[in-house]
Amino acid sequence: VTVEEALREAETLLGDGGVATPRVDAEWIVGHVVGLRRAELPVARARPLGGHEREQMRELVARRAGREPLGYVLGEWGFRRLALKVDGRALVPRPETEALVSRCLELLRGVTEPEVLDVGTGSGAIAISIADEHPGARVTALDSSADALALARENLAASSLNGRVKLVEADLADALPAGPFDLVVSNPPYVPAVEIEELAPEVRDWEPRAAILDAGQTEAVAHAALGVLRAGAPLVLETHWDAASRVAALLAELGYSGVTITRDLGGIERVVEGRRP
Ligand SMILES: C[S@@+](CC[C@H](N)C(=O)[O-])C[C@H]1O[C@@H](n2cnc3c(N)ncnc32)[C@H](O)[C@@H]1O
Repeated sequence: VTVEEALREAETLLGDGGVATPRVDAEWIVGHVVGLRRAELPVARARPLGGHEREQMRELVARRAGREPLGYVLGEWGFRRLALKVDGRALVPRPETEALVSRCLELLRGVTEPEVLDVGTGSGAIAISIADEHPGARVTALDSSADALALARENLAASSLNGRVKLVEADLADALPAGPFDLVVSNPPYVPAVEIEELAPEVRDWEPRAAILDAGQTEAVAHAALGVLRAGAPLVLETHWDAASRVAALLAELGYSGVTITRDLGGIERVVEGRRP
């Protein structure tokens, strides 16, 4: 089997499985197996796959055709400048969350050694990115899931940022670390229970329910952050696609000032921020 034949076989199986982008996913999987980037595949069309590669390719394609998220199948996922390990212990970090990190970095510009708190860190994507891209930032990253924190710990160990990110296992409903923080960021679970069944199988059946189901975490973070932010410091929240104005109203009601909504790259109102009075 050549790379070209493998791509065709994979594309067919993924299409039969109902994967929305079978060609692109086939390229990711075949590229991963033969150790080439997607852009390099056209010139490697005639390269034969070894027996082991073929077996691995079929195993990964079968998993993806079963609608396991591509990130879990590949075992790693790009987020800003990082290649993060991802698996069923935490949410696959999303492109819209990269916009959340951009906004945090803009707000931290000019603050030389900010103390940052990431609530619901999952894979560690936000916390590790902020430490990676702001040379003076010290980040505390909290999650109630021991599994997610174990994955974040592996991602942190693979970075050179060990000394600047602290991982804490705690439920945000109990208490947030004391601070004071120069910025609190969170991408909380925000899918309402009534929408869970309508989600793509990749999310509904594979990602941790505790990472996606809205159980009031947005409101809880907005309340609790008031007790740990420095006066004038921002809270930055990712929101559901149709919830930004509701979350903005909540922040204003709680007394946050300068409440602002920022759109993601898809033009959707996604990030809501406000400053502790
Ligand atoms: C949407 S995921 C975000 C993961 C990661 N920050 C990202 O953006 O990819 C939400 C995270 O919040 C955590 N979480 C949910 N409820 C929580 C709570 N009450 N206290 C602390 N963490 C919680 C989940 O375990 C999950 O890892």
